[in-house]
Amino acid sequence: MTLLHQMLFLAAGLLFILSLRGLASPISAQLGNRLGAVGMCVAVGTSLLFCSPAKLPYIFGAIAIGGAGGLAISRKIEMTALPQLVAAFHSLIGLAAVLVCAATLLSPHVFGLSAGGEGGLKFINLAEIGIGTVIGALTFTGSIVAFLKLCGVLRQSRAMPWEFLEVVGSIMLSFCYFVGSGSALPFYALTTFAAILGIMVVRQVGGADMPVVVSILNSFSGWAAAATGFTINNHLLIITGALVGASGTILSHIMCKNMNRSLGSVLWSGIGARRACGSDENCAASDASAVASKAAAKIGSQEEAAFILQNASSVIIVPGYGMAVARAQHVIYDIAEKLRGSGVRVRYAVHPVAGRMPGHMNVLLAEAKVPYEDVFDLEEINNDFASTDVAFVIGANDITNPAAHSDPSSSIYGMPIFDVEKAGIVLFVKRSLGTGYAGVENELFYRPNTVMILGDAKKVCDGVAASLRTR
Ligand code: TAP
Repeated sequence: MTLLHQMLFLAAGLLFILSLRGLASPISAQLGNRLGAVGMCVAVGTSLLFCSPAKLPYIFGAIAIGGAGGLAISRKIEMTALPQLVAAFHSLIGLAAVLVCAATLLSPHVFGLSAGGEGGLKFINLAEIGIGTVIGALTFTGSIVAFLKLCGVLRQSRAMPWEFLEVVGSIMLSFCYFVGSGSALPFYALTTFAAILGIMVVRQVGGADMPVVVSILNSFSGWAAAATGFTINNHLLIITGALVGASGTILSHIMCKNMNRSLGSVLWSGIGARRACGSDENCAASDASAVASKAAAKIGSQEEAAFILQNASSVIIVPGYGMAVARAQHVIYDIAEKLRGSGVRVRYAVHPVAGRMPGHMNVLLAEAKVPYEDVFDLEEINNDFASTDVAFVIGANDITNPAAHSDPSSSIYGMPIFDVEKAGIVLFVKRSLGTGYAGVENELFYRPNTVMILGDAKKVCDGVAASLRTR
């Protein structure tokens, strides 16, 4: 590698680091995004500049196919389906890592490695290939399972500890055999066992913990890329892979902290675990009967909601996944501005796992031009519900569910929630009295200070805004 080549790769690496720094705050996020794009152009441009001309048709062919596919998918995909898309894309990174490892093993000379005389590939090369393969294969299958679970095609299935021990033991044995022999058979066995481990780990993770798993897979895809970088001796791939891996790990840690869980309890909670109520079906039935014993929910109209909001002196808006589905953020902003014009103090409360991906609500509120200074996170605003007249909850459910405090057998037990029930009145906008993502009944709907305004969030909020305008 020439000095110019190395300097350009270093510049791309620096741009990626600056990009991550920019992405840390909503104010600098756009600049961060642009720096990342420039860094990627430098990285790809440098690779093309220094690559053998004979390879260019293959590279441009792959870019054309991948680019066309990416463009078509990104045009079609709904914002609410982004977590599935991210999971699907991570699977491709895992697959790429496995394929590069296999190619390195089968044709080391292509990557400038010597299959060298009697010894074959060096021990260190084989160890890199082995590690890259394990991370890549489990990222590949784990991401596919995450994709299917997020699409609702697969459900959680618990696993026994001994099943895990068997697979992990098989991975360790085949790794040692592979590194010792350098032959293809243990490599295939290693790949297969790692792929099985990816399926087992992600399948047993509970629904409410899936965001953390997507983030962990994101981090794994980075480590897989870094391992590939070591295998083919590509410094930029090592830097970018490590950046993605480290930032994904930090994000997973932050998300775990926000859900009051440890990484271990997220990853292993489904192993051998059973809720006190037994099977998932029994638990759903017990949740439902617990709620059925409560009084009937109070159902209100859009006009009543407008009346309650206008007569409040302070309102906290709590958006959730339903707001994203209905695309109600713009009309919610109109309602907030109208209330503000009448002297009502209006703030927005955003839970770190509201919606279906990190920052989901922040992005939508920013799109509706809600000022950053009106948006508060959990720690900043949770104590204020007790002194607030109205909590206006729009399409949110799990993040307000008191079962997280009161029911140790609930799958969301321990997750921090907004204490919306402490507000004078809780206005819930959703289509039914049904459950949210975690499938846990919410007894808040039946409390005396709760009013349910049932319907699509956009239609209900349009009605509330219209009613406010006529007052
Ligand atoms: P949820 O608990 O999923 O509740 C959303 C509610 O929105 C549902 O109960 C649904 O009730 C309602 N809804 C759906 N479409 C609607 C529409 N068109 N109009 C009005 N309401 C609508 O959402 P949340 O409170 O935002 O909590 C997020 C959950 O997702 C957590 O459990 C979290 O762990 C999980 N999760 C989060 C992420 C990240 S990283 N944010 C990723 C994956 C999963 P109806 O059907 O009755 O309308």
